[in-house]
Amino acid sequence: MSAARPIRIAPSVLDADFARLAEQIGLVEAGGADLLHLDVMDGHFVPNLSFGVPVVAAIAECTDLLLDTHLMISDPGRYASAFVQAGAGSITFHIEAAEHPGELVRLIRELGVKVGVSLNPGTPAEAVFGIIEDVDIVLVMTVWPGFGGQSFMDECLEKIETLAGHLSDAQWLEVDGGINSETAARIVAAGADTLVAGSAIFASEHPAEALAELRRAAGQAPARRLERSA
Ligand code: DX5
Ligand code: ZN
Repeated sequence: MSAARPIRIAPSVLDADFARLAEQIGLVEAGGADLLHLDVMDGHFVPNLSFGVPVVAAIAECTDLLLDTHLMISDPGRYASAFVQAGAGSITFHIEAAEHPGELVRLIRELGVKVGVSLNPGTPAEAVFGIIEDVDIVLVMTVWPGFGGQSFMDECLEKIETLAGHLSDAQWLEVDGGINSETAARIVAAGADTLVAGSAIFASEHPAEALAELRRAAGQAPARRLERSA
């Protein structure tokens, strides 16, 4: 089943050089990124701060890629609309932060974007079963959210397999945390179709090449590279 699914690569800008963000996004866009993953942290749901609505709006100005917005924040329903107005193409909330997940799914759906739900490493697959048919994306965290550059948690593979068995081909099974050319193949084998990668791409001197390497490792054909005129 997983072999038939197309693999999407979603660079996370968390590890990009923020002083040269537009340029770095341009590199991964030209290198074949399928979407751009934006990690929003509030210093409350996770023990770190990243960026918010104005930065998402600025990023929307410099790319046509779908902005896959991962809200690692408490009270996600309060901010979803502002992120959509800023240009988010999907809003993913954490099931652990949702008091009424069904209402949150409806609220985001009404904003006209894709709806995603994410699970922390310690949260069982069953926690999202009540809304799984209503979301477009299930995002499995394979590190504890809050920081880039952590090691992939192999113990999450079984949960990826379980969730893959509950999703239709139209839904995305996205995995986030510790993905690199060493870990990608087993994540895809477990059923993932969308791979988020921060440090594996942006800590590289050549983000587009790192992206192509990750795609190869995931068992897919290399990304089509746009030719630059000499
Ligand atoms: C972690 C974020 C990730 C992070 C991944 O809290 O949700 O998207 O950027 O970084 P790497 O790929 O370095 O693990
Ligand atoms: Zn993320």
